[in-house]
Amino acid sequence: MAQYLVTGGAGFIGSHLAEELLRRGERVRVVDSLITGKRENLAHLPQVEFIEGDLAEPGVATRAMSGVDYVLHQAAIPSVPRSVEDPITSNRANVDATLNVLVAARDAKVKRLVYAGSSSAYGNAATLPKVETMVPAPLSPYALQKLVAEQYCEMFTRLYGLETVTTRYFNVFGPRQDPSSPYSGVISVFISALCQGRAPTIHGDGGQTRDFTYVANVVDGVLRACQAPSASGETINVATGGRISLNQLFEVIRDLVGADVAVKHGDVRAGDVRDSQADISKARRILNYEPIVSFEEGLKRTVAWYRASTLTVA
Ligand code: UD1
Repeated sequence: MAQYLVTGGAGFIGSHLAEELLRRGERVRVVDSLITGKRENLAHLPQVEFIEGDLAEPGVATRAMSGVDYVLHQAAIPSVPRSVEDPITSNRANVDATLNVLVAARDAKVKRLVYAGSSSAYGNAATLPKVETMVPAPLSPYALQKLVAEQYCEMFTRLYGLETVTTRYFNVFGPRQDPSSPYSGVISVFISALCQGRAPTIHGDGGQTRDFTYVANVVDGVLRACQAPSASGETINVATGGRISLNQLFEVIRDLVGADVAVKHGDVRAGDVRDSQADISKARRILNYEPIVSFEEGLKRTVAWYRASTLTVA
């Protein structure tokens, strides 16, 4: 039984990691500022040791790190548009806090730190799918911050011998993703709007594409990255490997929900990437990773979850 620290563990992806770790019999400590995370995401996991704290504040990371074997660093303000509106707050959460976590992990001599990187680092690379050897081209403060933090991880591996791995996520979705903020992930926004019979807005012409990844795949990829012998110092895409346009996404969700609603189109969002699709051959090679839940199946499970939680709230 190992001790894991999940930063941002009260958030969407972090709470799924905590759940799977407990299922595997590991010990889980969560540190979360509750800026975007929610206590209720962990309500079904009473075994979790919870520390409320902002990792950008001095001392919080050091306290959280005591006795830790593995760190899954998920804490972030995960939004492109929020970073465009307020780059300073977003930098504090995404870069300053990461540096504090890395220093504390180095000093506590943890076995490995896995960092939640982002596909946004690729920007509008000229070719698809996006492969880790491409030169990054961030288009938003969020993308740049995620890239800086992953480069800090690599540097800590080279400079101090701290084992780190960056898993670059591609548009993760699933149960517990919060649809209620203007910065929420598009799938949560579309499902919750359509379940209530409201028309969602597509930013731009809807021809932009994404490699939407069901959260169980990400959990599997991250836990593999924690153990894979040759993963330290590497950046690895974790995704499904397909892509779908926003227009198609809207139609698939509308059919699943059974809503009779037309879509609205709004302005293109500043900092938006046009197309995103991952090459997952490095994950296959180094992590022995293979997507375990398809996009279609993941979407069905997610719609079912939102339906059930809407019923509970009503
Ligand atoms: C980006 C990153 C992703 C990261 C996420 C954090 C890319 C390719 N992906 O996601 O790795 O985890 O930030 O938030 O950069 N949209 C609408 N209507 C809405 C909401 C969104 O049309 O109501 C559109 C957006 O303009 C965008 C797409 O849906 O084209 C996806 O948006 P979103 O879910 O916010 O994620 P990204 O910004 O792509």
